[in-house]
Amino acid sequence: MVKGVGVGLRSQFSHERDKIIQNVDFLEINFGSGVDYKEEFGDFLGKIPCVIHSVNLSLGSVEPPPRNRVDFLKGATDFLRPSWVSEHLSFSRNNDIEINNFIALPYTDEAIEIACRNISDLQSYLGVKVALENVTHSFTWSENTYTEAEFIKNISEKANCGLLLDVTNLHINSRVHGYDPYEFLENMPKDRVLQLHIAGHSEMEGVLYDTHVGGIHQEVLQYAEWVLQHTSCDAVVIERDNEINLFDDLISDINLCKELYNKYRR
Ligand SMILES: [Fe+2]
Repeated sequence: MVKGVGVGLRSQFSHERDKIIQNVDFLEINFGSGVDYKEEFGDFLGKIPCVIHSVNLSLGSVEPPPRNRVDFLKGATDFLRPSWVSEHLSFSRNNDIEINNFIALPYTDEAIEIACRNISDLQSYLGVKVALENVTHSFTWSENTYTEAEFIKNISEKANCGLLLDVTNLHINSRVHGYDPYEFLENMPKDRVLQLHIAGHSEMEGVLYDTHVGGIHQEVLQYAEWVLQHTSCDAVVIERDNEINLFDDLISDINLCKELYNKYRR
């Protein structure tokens, strides 16, 4: 099983391959439509353990994920042998209409049933645990009959899957929707947490954006610390999609997370 502090692999890191491999315990391979992972990340593969982060299955859609995408992911899973495959608990597709964003599901029994069916099917086909990630969302559905935390907990238990807690997303959602982030964390099934996501975010005119920049905020670090202290989570991944050229700054975020991780795990 993958353990320690890793980073979400981006093609821009190729020129810093040795430094990346020296500084992290594992890599998270981002897996979207048509990604040629052997071409894009070939320099890294086989040299360090990895997990797969899928982005386009839309596990909350009524229709199951497209067969070709699931088959492609299965091929990569067999080839890379990741400890688990993560995907977002959201939907982004309805029949032929697809958007490049993650929409929160309505927190209802019907959505639980649909998501559980898709997750269970995926998990048994891939042959590895699926870890569900909590997404940021700017609105909530009026039909909701559960809180976000209850919804995630119910699905993870019914589908018997893992969780990827994104503590930056938690911070943003708790501020936008006015809930207590520690109450959310207390509600999570602690033995199902496989991985953390952590990243810097931005605030513009009072609005928080999940920008995946450098510089992890203190409150977000405190949530990560809580997760390491109270759950089974053994793996922390830093996500960086902006300011990606500030490589030394990424290394300092990695060191910050390692310090936190070592406090509870080594
Ligand atoms: Fe994330």
